[in-house]
Amino acid sequence: MNDRILGVIFDLDGVIVSTDNCHYLAWKRMADEEGIYFDRTINERLRGVSRMESLEIILERAQRPYTDDEKQAMAARKNAYYVELIGSLTRADILPGALDTLSYLKGRGVKVAIGSSSKNTPIILRQIGLENAFDAVADGNAITHSKPDPEVFVLAARLLGLAPESCLVVEDADAGIEAAMGGGMRALGVGSAAGNPAATFHAPDLAHADFAAILG
Ligand code: BG6
Ligand code: MG
Repeated sequence: MNDRILGVIFDLDGVIVSTDNCHYLAWKRMADEEGIYFDRTINERLRGVSRMESLEIILERAQRPYTDDEKQAMAARKNAYYVELIGSLTRADILPGALDTLSYLKGRGVKVAIGSSSKNTPIILRQIGLENAFDAVADGNAITHSKPDPEVFVLAARLLGLAPESCLVVEDADAGIEAAMGGGMRALGVGSAAGNPAATFHAPDLAHADFAAILG
């Protein structure tokens, strides 16, 4: 696959903005209230995974089965805690290198999009002042299958008007790297996915990603 990269699709949580701790604290509060064991190691498994699928992972440690109605209520409660926490996000929570990367790509005429499983994407982008920074936004509100399914990235590419082969995905979740590969895109693994052997490119974070080399 040697097509030129004409578009870059960024995952949001853990790539553009640091929301990891907000997700952890919100799930932890809900799990503690229910008496369900939950820790940061289990939290790592929720990276890139949808809200309801995250809940199912947390319920692996539950002492009793929960009905669908109870699950919906628990997910809603977690989200209320989460929305309260992300209400304090500011531009200071934008991750290192993200703003410079967006400027560099725009300067090179490369289109930029968000491809996130999060239904809170619009709130988060507003909080950090990046609501107008992307040419397209594909998020959890617009898809039926969450990562590792490629749907959100395929949608982002379509919204950019680009073929998947012309797009690079930037991801911090293994589920997201799998989604990018499944969608026929290249992927840059950062953060928790920096060591993912399936990714095409690797960097600890956006501040250390060599986009001049990646774009060629
Ligand atoms: C992803 C996060 O970006 O969004 C996951 O990595 C999260 O941890 C998922 O579960 C869904 O988020 P939300 O905001 O719709 O609950
Ligand atoms: Mg992420």
